[in-house]
Amino acid sequence: MSAGRYSCLLLPLCVSVLAHRQPGAPAASVPAADNSLVWGPGLEANIVLPVRFFYIQAVDGSGKNLTTSPGEKTFEVKIVSPSEPFTRIWIQVLDRQDGSFLVRYRMYATYTDLHIHVLLQDKHVAKSPFILKGPVYHEGCLCPQPVGSVWEAHMRCPQSFAQIDRDLSLYTTVDPDLNAQEIPQRFGQRQSLCHYTVKDNKVYVKTFGEHVGFRIFMDAILLSLTRKVRLPDVEFFVNLGDWPLEKRKPTEKLHPIFSWCGSNNTRDIVMPTYDLTESVLETMGRVSLDMMSVQANTGPPWAEKNATAFWRGRDSRQERLELVKLSRAHPDVIDAAFTNFFFFKHDESLYGPLVKHVSFFDFFKYKYQINIDGTVAAYRLPYLLAGDSVVFKQDSGYYEHFYKELRPWEHYIPVRADLGDLLEKIQWARDHDDEAKTIALAGQRFARSQLMGDSIFCYYFKLFEAYAKLQVTEPKIRKGMELVEQPADDLFPCACHRTTAKEVKDEL
Ligand SMILES: *[C@@H]1O[C@H](CO)[C@@H](O)[C@H](O)[C@H]1NC(C)=O
Ligand SMILES: *[C@@H]1O[C@H](CO)[C@@H](O)[C@H](O)[C@H]1NC(C)=O
Ligand SMILES: *[C@@H]1O[C@H](CO)[C@@H](O)[C@H](O)[C@H]1NC(C)=O
Repeated sequence: MSAGRYSCLLLPLCVSVLAHRQPGAPAASVPAADNSLVWGPGLEANIVLPVRFFYIQAVDGSGKNLTTSPGEKTFEVKIVSPSEPFTRIWIQVLDRQDGSFLVRYRMYATYTDLHIHVLLQDKHVAKSPFILKGPVYHEGCLCPQPVGSVWEAHMRCPQSFAQIDRDLSLYTTVDPDLNAQEIPQRFGQRQSLCHYTVKDNKVYVKTFGEHVGFRIFMDAILLSLTRKVRLPDVEFFVNLGDWPLEKRKPTEKLHPIFSWCGSNNTRDIVMPTYDLTESVLETMGRVSLDMMSVQANTGPPWAEKNATAFWRGRDSRQERLELVKLSRAHPDVIDAAFTNFFFFKHDESLYGPLVKHVSFFDFFKYKYQINIDGTVAAYRLPYLLAGDSVVFKQDSGYYEHFYKELRPWEHYIPVRADLGDLLEKIQWARDHDDEAKTIALAGQRFARSQLMGDSIFCYYFKLFEAYAKLQVTEPKIRKGMELVEQPADDLFPCACHRTTAKEVKDEL
């Protein structure tokens, strides 16, 4: 035993650290600047995102990855531009508590050449400084890459998304002229819809129905995309309601409707939910729960998490009432309670008193998270997966754009739609702690790699691109459509140095 560790024994805090260590396990190792790894999209000038991000993996002197945090302040990141004495860039280094860090930064202006310094006690880490050459555009800059395939290559978008292929396989062609007549007739009276046309990379919209507030999310992603890449001319309808709409059978005449949620009984074309989309656009802005902040707030390590299954939410579905009843009957297994009553009659004798809202990050004090449908799919699933608890997912007819990529027992523990086997499944997890932890980590890996901002942009782009190819008549700016303007309040206007689409055509 080293002298350092010996003296440490005198302090109660250190005693508890030693007590937690497995016998024979080495002392926590120290990261080495040369060995540590730095990678990710935020190191590339051409990957323009609302918030750019990259990763640091702490590696010790012998080449081993650290698996616990070496301390929140271990790495320092500075971003400078040689041409600008003051860069307006907000940087955060998020400790993921597993030996890795997520660095995110939001740029408020565009710079020529950015130098990213990643430092460990004033020593450059890995290949730091990382140099992003040429103009590095910020989110607000209107500067679309004129060639979609070039943008896709920069973004490293996957070749395809299975859900897009599946959704569009129901259509051999789509006819914008016909849809412009038929869809408002069929749905425009009772549903809230947006009719969009993107033409020459400008966005036009007409709304139908009363509750059109949610169009802000669709407007925002379309404007953000068209600032980054030239979209093909495309015309489509977005359903602003919760429930998917197209209930006809594939053998009948289908109308293509874009929705945030799909279901087993409908044929809507799914997009990432408005919630996930907004969290991508407003990370380090209006939202506090996003796929990055959640990674830095995953609660205590697995062994110290409470082995009670946890749930909080509102009464938006019958099974949620059942869950709370189950919790009241088995409080040692499930802690489920309502924070709000809205849909059903609140009977305190059955469902208990309402409890105070719990910060989402505090969910991860618990090992077992229950994901149960609300009105439609529960849009919290991406964030639950990103934590380091294991998710119990209720079987459901509703799905988001990524659900079909998830596999039961690999990324989550499946639970019957009627929750009939929930207690049994929780018991299984308690009896198979290592397996449960493995599933938790696989779900987390999925969320970290498939549900970040770059993937969401790729998904939307590939969807519009594939859909546009099916069009057999020209997308048009229809009567009653208005231009959706790019925000004019950007404090730091930028100069766009990309060639225009016209110049590209002239060259070809
Ligand atoms: C160390 O971490 C990096 C980055 O996460 C990973 O790619 C690599 O496989 C890890 N190495 C080992 C030996 O686990
Ligand atoms: C675990 O959580 C349950 C329910 O929230 C609580 O009653 C119990 O006291 C907690 N256990 C520990 C060890 O903190
Ligand atoms: C929905 O469909 C999937 C297969 O695509 C199936 O696994 C699941 O059980 C269905 N769920 C419900 C509730 O219909």
